[in-house]
Amino acid sequence: MVIKFLKRSFFQRLLGLSATTKPGIDGCWNYADGKLTISLDKVLELNTPGGAIRFEGKNLPKRVLVVCTEDGEYRAFHNRCTHLGHRRLDPVPGTDTVQCCSLNKSTYDSGGNKIFGPAPHPITLYPVKKEQGNLIISVN
Ligand code: FES
Repeated sequence: MVIKFLKRSFFQRLLGLSATTKPGIDGCWNYADGKLTISLDKVLELNTPGGAIRFEGKNLPKRVLVVCTEDGEYRAFHNRCTHLGHRRLDPVPGTDTVQCCSLNKSTYDSGGNKIFGPAPHPITLYPVKKEQGNLIISVN
């Protein structure tokens, strides 16, 4: 497999600045009873194939990166590279991979398996269900 790299500047990678943003509307998601629930009508990025958004803060116990694939499916990753710095991840356009935003660029396939870089372990994917206009992600 040919590994593609997300275009980021040296300083963006040095500082570990993720290309993926947080949602613009704070009230578009909540977390309760182990479930992250996202109102899809309020998160345009998740209605666009190739789009992604990151969820973190409030009472959410883990950072979560949600990607809408080119096929319109959803994947939810624990947004924490398994390499030392534990930096955030971004999807790489035109591929089915996610990549660490650091200089070392550890890259993972759609199943969370490391395919490039120094990360020692795979990343966790969380189960995703679509129900009545919501995405429901089991974060454990
Ligand atoms: S923190 Fe991801 S490669 Fe180092």
